Amino acid sequence: MSVTVRVPMNIALVKYWGKRDEKLILPLNDSISLTVDELCAETSVELVKQDDHTVSINGKEVDLESNKRYRTVFNEALRFQRKRAHEKENGTSNNNIGLKFKVTSTTNFPVAAGLASSAAGFAAISMAIQILIGLDETQANKVARIGSGSACRSMFGGLVQWKSGIKDDGTDCFAIKVNEGWNTLRCLIFVFDGEEKKVGSTEGMRRSSQTSDLLKYRIEHLVDKRIAKIAEAYEKRDFDEFAKVIMSDSNQFHAICLDTSPPIRYLSDASWKLIEVVEKFNENGKRKAAYTFDAGPNACVILEDQNVQDFLRFATSQIVVPIDDLNKISTSITQTEQPIAVA
Ligand code: DP6
Repeated sequence: MSVTVRVPMNIALVKYWGKRDEKLILPLNDSISLTVDELCAETSVELVKQDDHTVSINGKEVDLESNKRYRTVFNEALRFQRKRAHEKENGTSNNNIGLKFKVTSTTNFPVAAGLASSAAGFAAISMAIQILIGLDETQANKVARIGSGSACRSMFGGLVQWKSGIKDDGTDCFAIKVNEGWNTLRCLIFVFDGEEKKVGSTEGMRRSSQTSDLLKYRIEHLVDKRIAKIAEAYEKRDFDEFAKVIMSDSNQFHAICLDTSPPIRYLSDASWKLIEVVEKFNENGKRKAAYTFDAGPNACVILEDQNVQDFLRFATSQIVVPIDDLNKISTSITQTEQPIAVA
């Protein structure tokens, strides 16, 4: 049997940066994200008779020796399956013994360019496996998380919070849907660079947790307040406040990267130009647009539907490069579309 799912990426509004357990991928802080419906990983998973697990992404075979997370994900999923078989049938049978996972995935956005592609990718693998071998929601969420932390947020639509928890075994660490229904929100993705990032998130956050005082300050004093403000502004449809918190957290995340030793620079000149454009667009009156950047130069601009055209006109007049050359992907954030099984 083969299961195919389509799972969207998510964009963090209050970022996850730092792990309290690298193996279990337990974060140092809660984070909150929006699920972006049009940027997806479409992934098929089968259990087949072959020598080893295989993963193909956008037509390229992944080397599972240098990308160890895949094997961790598969082993954990199979462990859950064995556990269930044991509980149900007293360990007598497990039909899938000796079978290996065959994963085929395609994404409609650049992989590893700071666009949370690993989030959609691992969430899709985990959801397909969930259906294929019958995992419960908590197990599937863990399988996604140990693939890539931010992936556990892509298992839901809408506004999603990933709770860091405090337990060593991670049983209180999972993502939950906080809210849905701000249907007029839109997200414009500006792809300035589709190349793989120089310092991956895993290495970057390891470095920052070890060396940045600002990271500690943010976690101790700011993250929880920001998450509460985001949830409240979202609930009240208060875009001005929503945008303020999103931009503060994005800027502080990149400040933490600079406060890291050796420092990490993810933003490019093009990213900075975009920041200036958004700040200028917001200058008089209430904020109408919010930028946020993950571990890469590409921008995500969040707006309400009625302001998209105005913003694009304004950005085109401000940015020297014609806007079409920026390889803009216009996309929407949905509160209704969950990750879906397509076959
Ligand atoms: C900046 O989830 O890619 O996008 O857990 O090591 O795989 P690993 O990291 P990953 O980190 C995402 C970091 C971020 C912020 C966020 O998405 O919250």
